[in-house]
Amino acid sequence: MKATIVDDVAQLYGVEHWGAGYFGVNRLGHTVVRPVKSDSREADLHEIVQELVEKRTLSTPLLLRFPQILGTQLQRLCLAYESAAREFAYSGEHFPVFPMKVNPRREVVDEFLRQGVDQSFGLECGSKAELMAALSLEQTPESLLICNGFKDETFLRLALLGVQAGKRVVVVIEKLNELKTLLELAKLAGVSPLIGLRAKLYSRGSGKWASSGGESAKFGLTTSELLECIRLLRAEGLIAQLKLLHFHIGSQITDIKRVKNAMKEAARVYAKIRQMKVEVEFLDIGGGLGVDYDGSKTTFEASINYSVEEFANNVVYTIKSVCDDEKVPHPHLVTESGRVMTAYHAVFVTSIRDEIETFAEEIPIAAIDEDDPQVIYELKSLLDGINSKNYREYYHDALDDKDELHTQFNLGLISLEDRGKGEVLFWEICARSLKFAQEANLQDEEFDALRRILASKYLCNFSLFRSAPDSWAIGQLFPIMPIHKLNEMPTDFATLVDVTCDSDGCIKKFVDLKDVKQVLELHNFNDKNGQPREPYYLAIFLVGAYQEVMGSFHNLFGLPHEAQVVIDTDGSYHITKLVPASKISDMLAFARFDKTQCTESFRRLITAQLAAGKLNQTQADEAIQKYESGVSGSTYLE
Ligand SMILES: Cc1ncc(COP(=O)(O)O)c(C=O)c1O
Repeated sequence: MKATIVDDVAQLYGVEHWGAGYFGVNRLGHTVVRPVKSDSREADLHEIVQELVEKRTLSTPLLLRFPQILGTQLQRLCLAYESAAREFAYSGEHFPVFPMKVNPRREVVDEFLRQGVDQSFGLECGSKAELMAALSLEQTPESLLICNGFKDETFLRLALLGVQAGKRVVVVIEKLNELKTLLELAKLAGVSPLIGLRAKLYSRGSGKWASSGGESAKFGLTTSELLECIRLLRAEGLIAQLKLLHFHIGSQITDIKRVKNAMKEAARVYAKIRQMKVEVEFLDIGGGLGVDYDGSKTTFEASINYSVEEFANNVVYTIKSVCDDEKVPHPHLVTESGRVMTAYHAVFVTSIRDEIETFAEEIPIAAIDEDDPQVIYELKSLLDGINSKNYREYYHDALDDKDELHTQFNLGLISLEDRGKGEVLFWEICARSLKFAQEANLQDEEFDALRRILASKYLCNFSLFRSAPDSWAIGQLFPIMPIHKLNEMPTDFATLVDVTCDSDGCIKKFVDLKDVKQVLELHNFNDKNGQPREPYYLAIFLVGAYQEVMGSFHNLFGLPHEAQVVIDTDGSYHITKLVPASKISDMLAFARFDKTQCTESFRRLITAQLAAGKLNQTQADEAIQKYESGVSGSTYLE
């Protein structure tokens, strides 16, 4: 195998940059996954997918979960804080908590709690449902259960139940009224919860979620509200319960400078509160530690210009400096990092089902003669005469002719056949112009746009709205690449479209080290007759944070099959768990269609057709049987 081609192809997709040591390409030209960064143990992703498809008869889309990566990320985060504390002689401890909203799947939460026993790993919840789930899970006695978000009485009562159950619950107050209600309920229940206050900082993050911080942020107490809470707690004799100060300036902070600024401000607020003789012990710095989705290490919104270690160093050093300056104790640091801990562990695999071309190359150019309309004649002359010197000018002329073609068609001057002939000629001129521009290495907006227009659309068996919703909702970039064939240079350029009936269901932006790619390099997967030669699998990486929980059932496409994979010391892998995909019946139930009622209604329709003599008994029986078996089928293309 030619190592150089594999290396070049890996370089093309940038896996070495965004893969963070977890992903790479082996000599067979397959993508590999490692449980620990740059580990010698590596499992072949293509092999895993083949086993799932061929031996276990599953079909794409597939979500692969690698729980070991969750553990590795957790250890990395904790180590970063430990070594920062050592380096800067920081006396507070680190209390990592997992914000459940990032990925509330049982498999994920359980894995963190299992792997984080030595780190007093805790949970953060922002809703009653998350809290209910959290209350059922076993945590170490010293670990925290942080309750954030807007709370009604039921939420607060649940939090108090947690205290009664022996959990170290901290109710974080987002609004003044919340505190008043909490105090009343706590008095009634005879329970004293730990209390936290969420401060609204003046500092903002950077990137897509910058507006989560700053004065107009949705959450948090203003300075005067903070002071009022303190006054109220003192008046009630409960000031000793105030143990935590929290802030969160937004997810995916792209620029380390913003982190330092926020830490300075927050540490100052903490110090001033301490100086008011309030023994706050914990400073909860929220999330925000980002993921380098494009591997560029820049402040671009899909990247970050720091490492986990640098983030931790900045947090610890800045808070220590302010506290020493203000002569207050170093607080214990609570981190609510979700994205960075979960993003890498999930890989989504889809397969390409078809190609949608802007123009079908296989349609031949019809013979043109003098009887054809002038505009078609002109397009044919342009096509015959185009060359490497005149292609730009001829391309412009062809654009004019195409407008003229459509004007004449709309005026009823030319036939549908003429319009068809003219369009085939026009697209052929475009294709040749682009070829000349590429040969000349021309960097030009006009021809870049043409390249995008002419790029194929590869139809992938998945729903963007279900499996990578942030790509649609906020234009989030995820690394995407084939998981095999990487020992061949890709020759096609394409954008990706999903199988939903929604034109927004497409991916037109791809990660790149220096820019954002408008098309993705892909292999031609068809044989000469335009039929797929073999399955062609693409993976969307780094989808472990937010995507699963934010995905929707648009068009009633359901959850994909899910496989949990563990990698052994010798690189062999084990599929430790399979969660089947949603069936059509699940999606019917979601939309409140009762499966039995649906079948009965359909049966009545068929019976009426039978009675009217439009179907015979065998046809009627078959139709009903097909409907019945159809409801347990897959929602995706089979
Ligand atoms: C209060 C709070 N904590 C933690 C997080 C998790 O942030 P991240 O995923 O950036 O670590 C969020 C998400 O925005 C949040 O709102």
